[in-house]
Amino acid sequence: MKTPPHFAEAEFGTMPSRRSALALAAAAVTGALVPAAAGEDDLSLSEAAAEKGLLFGAAVNSHLLEVPDYTEAVRRDSNVIVPEYELKRRDVEPRQGIFRFYGADRILQFAIGNKMSMRGHTLVWHESLPDWLSERLQSKPEEKLLTDYVGYLCKRYRGSIGSWDVVNEAVAPEQGRPDGLRATSPWLQAFGPGYLGTSFHAARDADPNALLVYNDYGVYASSPWHEARRRAVLNLCEKLVSEGAPIDAVGIQGHLRAYGRKIDEGGLSRFVSNLTGMGLRILVTEMDVQDTGGARSVLQRDQDVAAIAGQFLDVVLDNPKAIAVLTWGVSDLHSYLSVAPETRWPDGQLSRGLPLDREYRRKPLWYAIRRSLVSAPKRGGQR
Ligand code: XIL
Repeated sequence: MKTPPHFAEAEFGTMPSRRSALALAAAAVTGALVPAAAGEDDLSLSEAAAEKGLLFGAAVNSHLLEVPDYTEAVRRDSNVIVPEYELKRRDVEPRQGIFRFYGADRILQFAIGNKMSMRGHTLVWHESLPDWLSERLQSKPEEKLLTDYVGYLCKRYRGSIGSWDVVNEAVAPEQGRPDGLRATSPWLQAFGPGYLGTSFHAARDADPNALLVYNDYGVYASSPWHEARRRAVLNLCEKLVSEGAPIDAVGIQGHLRAYGRKIDEGGLSRFVSNLTGMGLRILVTEMDVQDTGGARSVLQRDQDVAAIAGQFLDVVLDNPKAIAVLTWGVSDLHSYLSVAPETRWPDGQLSRGLPLDREYRRKPLWYAIRRSLVSAPKRGGQR
């Protein structure tokens, strides 16, 4: 499948100069306390990614693109961006047939102006649905409520958005279906499991080149719950691929927990390999790290956040079919971790789960990400 150059596995002419992984590893743990080798400290995350044929970036909000510190932080470290919420259906089509694209278009304008790629998130999800649609899906489900919308957005952004999260979070094995699909999904209840293939076909019919992604969470750790989710995602992808659905890649959201279940390095690595074995590529689409439930000291939290993120990225990026990493925001000042009921600090303090602190300063997590990018195998074969 031909994909736009910014989402193909980019080719690079020369290997980057060998950098001291040891110094960067130390920097990952202690932040900037360990001087990086000459020339490393000026390497941004997007530059480190590009040297390996990877994309690196973040979820952004259009209204923050008027804030100089914010836009400078995005510019410095991103070569791909995605709207955190402005391409979700509740924001795009608040009333049937009434569309709002201002926010997404503002982000696209910023991407184009800064030579960045743009992702679309997300076309078909059980959340962020406008009330009118939830009601229609229950009362009078017509498939065009799905296919017309997917087709309209993919046509509108054809050639601009290089990669779409076509379907988001469709599995929930804990809900008991034998196929592991989310039984409570209004899309499943309206149209049956076929809505998955229908969504991907509608996207491909409208955009012959965009990278079409299935996106989900909860596949990184050691627990029966995570293992069941990995199995359900594999089942879903195997079925789509075997039915000839035009799925190109899987997005691993990467919402990690510093004080939750440990990373299942073997399970995650096998999961990624099984997906790439189907011909799919891998993106880390929404990485951040919840830091409640453990250390209270900022220094310790920052180091623990950095450690699990580096471990997670090392496993995923070890597979050469992993092509992009995005964090779910750039600065702790705007992280959804600090507002979501299931992740926020009870005392209201900011979570520290993103690469930059509230003053846009680099944290150990920033250095851990760079270390993982620098030490990742080069895409497109070694030169
Ligand atoms: C979150 C946003 O960050 C919040 O601003 C919004 O209120 C709810 O959605 N998985 C996803 C993302 O795919 O779209 C969610 O983003 C976080 C979980």
